[in-house]
Amino acid sequence: MTKDMNFIDGLLGQMTLEEKIGQLNLVTPGGETLTGTVVNTDVAEKIRTGRIGGIFGVKSAEAVRVFQDLAQETRLKIPLMFAEDVIHGQKTIFPLPLALAASWDMDLVRATARVAAREAASIGIDQVYSPMIDVCRDPRWGRIAESPGEDPFLASRFAEAMVEGYQNNDLSHPDAVMACLKHFCGYGGGMGGRDYDAVDLSPATLHDVVLPPFVAGMRAGAGSIMASFNTLNGVPMHANRAVITELFREKLGFGGLVVADYTGILELIAHGVAADRADAARLGLTAGVDMDMVSETYLETLEDSVGAGLIKEAEITAACRRVLEAKLKLGLFDDPYHRLDWGRSAQPILTAANRQLAREAVAAATVVLKNDGNLLPLPAPESGKIGTIALVGPFALDRVNMNGTWAVAASPSTVVPIADGLREAVGNAVSVLTAKGANIVDELWLASRLNVHDWKDLSVVIDVRSPEAMIAEAVATASSADVTVAVVGEAREYSGESSSRSDLSIPEPQKKLLRALKATGKPLVVVVMTGRPLVLAEEALLADALLVAWFGGTEIGHGLADVLFGKSEPSGRLPATFPYSLGQVPITYSHRPTGRPAPGRFQKFTSGYVDLPDDVPQNDGLYPFGFGLGYGTVAYGPPRAVRTELAGEDRLDVTVTVTNLGDRPTLETVQLYIGDPVASVSRPVKELKAFRKLALAPRVAEAVSFTVTAADLDFSVAETVTDTRRRLEGGAFDIHVGPNSRDTQAVRVVWNEPKIEGKRS
Ligand code: BGC
Repeated sequence: MTKDMNFIDGLLGQMTLEEKIGQLNLVTPGGETLTGTVVNTDVAEKIRTGRIGGIFGVKSAEAVRVFQDLAQETRLKIPLMFAEDVIHGQKTIFPLPLALAASWDMDLVRATARVAAREAASIGIDQVYSPMIDVCRDPRWGRIAESPGEDPFLASRFAEAMVEGYQNNDLSHPDAVMACLKHFCGYGGGMGGRDYDAVDLSPATLHDVVLPPFVAGMRAGAGSIMASFNTLNGVPMHANRAVITELFREKLGFGGLVVADYTGILELIAHGVAADRADAARLGLTAGVDMDMVSETYLETLEDSVGAGLIKEAEITAACRRVLEAKLKLGLFDDPYHRLDWGRSAQPILTAANRQLAREAVAAATVVLKNDGNLLPLPAPESGKIGTIALVGPFALDRVNMNGTWAVAASPSTVVPIADGLREAVGNAVSVLTAKGANIVDELWLASRLNVHDWKDLSVVIDVRSPEAMIAEAVATASSADVTVAVVGEAREYSGESSSRSDLSIPEPQKKLLRALKATGKPLVVVVMTGRPLVLAEEALLADALLVAWFGGTEIGHGLADVLFGKSEPSGRLPATFPYSLGQVPITYSHRPTGRPAPGRFQKFTSGYVDLPDDVPQNDGLYPFGFGLGYGTVAYGPPRAVRTELAGEDRLDVTVTVTNLGDRPTLETVQLYIGDPVASVSRPVKELKAFRKLALAPRVAEAVSFTVTAADLDFSVAETVTDTRRRLEGGAFDIHVGPNSRDTQAVRVVWNEPKIEGKRS
C-alpha cells in the first residue's frame, strides 16, 4: 500500500458535500438472491455521477470490472468497494457456520475462511458480510444456521478465526477480503425466535453474552461491522448511537466501517422511531451507521438536512472518511482492479485443495449423537461383511439442499451428492440401493415457501407418488439390505433469514418413514440434515446410530462416506443445545440457577416441566451443548488443580487425564467450564472458558492442562449499556472439565481477592 491517511485528508479536501454523501450509498444491482423487497435502480448512472460508494451482490468478475470502469469516469475516480454475502464459502461451499463451529477446530475454521476469501477476491470482491456472530439460544430462529451457536466463548474464538482467515493480516493484499462482523447487535435474541423481532436484554447480559464475539472480532482486526435489524431495549440498532458509537467506537475502540443492513435505515420508519425518510437518514447517520444499504435515504435527504441545520457536514465527512479509509486499507486507491487481476492469474476457485478441505470439514462438523453397539463405522466395503446398503430419504440423491442456506454464489452442480459419495467409497464391493421414501414436506404451500430462492433448481420437489407408495418402496429396499442409512431433515431454506420455525421436529412424512424403517428390524443409521438444533427425541429412539450432518456443502457426499466407513473420525460437538421438546426453548447450558433448581428429573415445586417424563433432563435439553461422540471410547479422570488457594494475578494450572480406551485413534474435545457458586449476583451455572481438541492414539492416556487466570472469573456489572465495568469477586470457584457441558467433573478452588472492579468500559 503506497497511499496513506494523508491521501485521504487530501481527497476529502477536494470533495463536495454531494460527493461525500455518494460514498455513503451502498447498493445492490438486483437479480438472484435478494433479502428485501426494495432493489436499487439506475445503478450504472448513479455510479457514473458519483452517487454510489459500494455495491454488493455482483456475481462475476466481468460485472465487477464494468462497474469499476464506470467509477473511473467520475471526477475524483474514487474506486467502488464490492461486497458479497460469503457466509460459508464462495464457490467451494463448506458446512454451515453453525456446523463449522461444531468442529471446535479454529485452525479449520480459519482455513475455510481463507479459501472463501481467495475465491471471492478472485472475482473482485473486497468485503464479505461475514462472520455472522450472533449468539443464539433460541433454535426457532432460522439464522442460528449462520451463527456459531449459543456460547459467547466459542463464538469469540470463531469470530477471531474467521477474521484472520478472511483478512490474513494484510488487507491490501489482493487475496484478502475485509471481514464484516454482523449483526451488531443482539439479533439472536428476538422475541419468540422470530426474525427481525424485538430484543430486550439486560446491559450485563449484553456485555457478557452478546458483545464478546464482536470484541474478539474487533481485536482480531475486523475492518467493518453491520448493524442489526432488531430493536435493543426499544431502540432500533440502526438508530442506536449509545451502542454503536458511544460504546463500540468510543469506549471499546472500534475504528472501522459501519454498514447498515438491507434497508435497515428505511425500516426506522416501520420501527416507529422516524417520521419520514429524512428523519430515518438523520437518525442512522448520527447513530454511527456510515453506509446506507439499499434504502438510499442518505443519498436523497442528507444534503437538505445539512442545509436545514439538522445535521452537521462534519458528521458526513467523518462517515465518508471511514468509507475512504476502508478502500485505502483494501489497496483500492493504489489499484482498483488488483483483486480482479490477481484472480485471473491465480484461479483459486473449486480447486482440488479447496474441495479436500471441504471434505475434511464434513467429518469435523458431523456430530454423532448415538451409536448403539458401535454400528458405526460400517465395516470396510472390502471386508465382505455387508453386501447391500439401503440409502433412503429425500436427501439421498439431493444436490440443491446440500449447500444449505446462504450460499448465493454456489451452484448445485458442483455438489457431490450423498449417493455418489457412498458409491464411490464402496466401489463394486457393496451395492448401494436408493429410495426417496418421503417428501421433505407434503404441503404445497410450505414447499413453495421453502423454494423461495430457487430460481433454477427446486429444493423441495413433491413426488407425484403417494406417501404410502414411497414408504413401501423404501421399506422393500431396506428389507433387502444389510443396513439402512436414512438421510432426513430440513430443507435448506427451513433455516436462514426469515425462516423461523414454530416447530423443531423433522417433518412428519419423514418421521413416518423412519418409523417404517425401524419396523424392518434392519440396523438403522439416521443422518440428519439441518440448519438448527432440532427436537430429535423420537429419532433418538428409532435410530441405532444418529448423526447430525447439518448441511455439509460441496463435498458432503465424500465427507459423509468418510464418516460412515470410519475413514475420518466424526468429531463435531454441539455448538448449541438440542432440546428434548420445543417448549424448552430458549435454552442454554449456561443458565442462571433458580431458587428451586430442577434436580434433573421433575419434582413438584422445582423449576421444570410437569409434562416432561422423569428420565428427561428438565432444563438442559436432550443433547447438551458440547456433546458429541467419537468412534473411540474416551474416559476422563477428575480435574486436578496444582493448588486450590490462589490470589490476584495468580495462574492456575488444571490438568485432566483423558484416556482412549479403544483400539482406534480418536479425536476428543476437552472442555473446561467455570462456575461461581457464591457472588453478589446469581452467576450462570457454568461458563465455557477453554477447550482443546486433541488426537488420541489407541490405548493412550494423555494429560491435558489448561491455565485459568483471574480474567476467566470476572463478570460485567452494568447500569446502562455504556456504564459498565468488569467485576472480579474473590471466593470459591468450581472448575469443571469434561467431554460436554453436562458430564463434567469439578475441582473447587478459592481465589482470594476482595472485590476488584475493572475500569469502566
Ligand atoms: C441480511 C444480511 C446480509 C444482507 C445483504 C440482509 O437481509 O440480514 O445478513 O448481509 O441482507 O444481503
